[in-house]
Amino acid sequence: MGGTTLSTEWTIREVLNWTRGYFEAAGIVQPRLEAEILLAHALDVERLNLYISPDQPLTIDERSRYRTVVKQRRDGTPLQHLIGEVQFFGLRFRVSRDALIPRPETEELLDHILKLVPRDREIGCLDLGTGTGVIAVCLARYFPQAAVTAVDISPSALDVARGNAALNGVEDRIAFVESDWFDRVSGGYDLIASNPPYVDEKDLERLPAEVRDHEPREALDGGPGGLREIGALIEAIPSYLNCGGLVFLEIGRGQDEAVAKMLESAGFVEVRMESDLAGNPRYAVAEWPS
Ligand SMILES: C[S@@+](CC[C@H](N)C(=O)[O-])C[C@H]1O[C@@H](n2cnc3c(N)ncnc32)[C@H](O)[C@@H]1O
Repeated sequence: MGGTTLSTEWTIREVLNWTRGYFEAAGIVQPRLEAEILLAHALDVERLNLYISPDQPLTIDERSRYRTVVKQRRDGTPLQHLIGEVQFFGLRFRVSRDALIPRPETEELLDHILKLVPRDREIGCLDLGTGTGVIAVCLARYFPQAAVTAVDISPSALDVARGNAALNGVEDRIAFVESDWFDRVSGGYDLIASNPPYVDEKDLERLPAEVRDHEPREALDGGPGGLREIGALIEAIPSYLNCGGLVFLEIGRGQDEAVAKMLESAGFVEVRMESDLAGNPRYAVAEWPS
């Protein structure tokens, strides 16, 4: 490892300064923050503790653990995989290579759901392509009367999602179904939410290596124009949505007009697009007529 030389006794302060330079040279966007997160993880302390005792030297074991994760991070392993968990919508979720790392944009999808759907009703919710289970678990936690079904085609993603439901105390409120979209789903729902794969197949190879080489392809590949899976869902959803039921879809940039047309031609009403914090229309909301 290059950069500033470390004294023989690595202190927290020295290690953080050194790693910041090392990560910066590797093109990591928030080098100091990531160094702090990884060091806190290697030392098994809260990040704040690093500021309380900056002159504390690392033990041999701590150095070795830290060195390993720093190298993995430099080589492109996502930070979230190294620490094994993320915070999402106020809850903790375990993450691994088996399911997409939840993104902050998907928290905004939940924001829109919470704005529109009363929280005190007994409703049936369906999360299509649950991945780590973030949408299903948040629906179960924030809608205390909801019965939630979570679907994924990937058995290993479903294992992650089940673990996350247990971690958040809602394992009894969610039915997990291994299914190719609706193949093994029955019944009518009041709310269907999905963050489906929506990356244009042409762009897959151009994704940052951190995403392309570490995240499941089936979580990303949306086929031509990124619209293949969204189209399949919009065609099928009406058969599973109760009258007056709502659909919420996270979509990619530039897909809003095509998705609005698909929803309207499928017979949905009150079709609208909500924007993300950057002002891009990224959430399709529509109602199945009563
Ligand atoms: C973009 S990820 C979303 C994961 C999670 N809901 C989130 O927001 O972080 C899409 C998910 O859809 C799943 N998926 C892809 N094709 C599917 C299909 N045909 N049937 C069911 N699930 C599918 C993938 O395995 C993946 O977990």
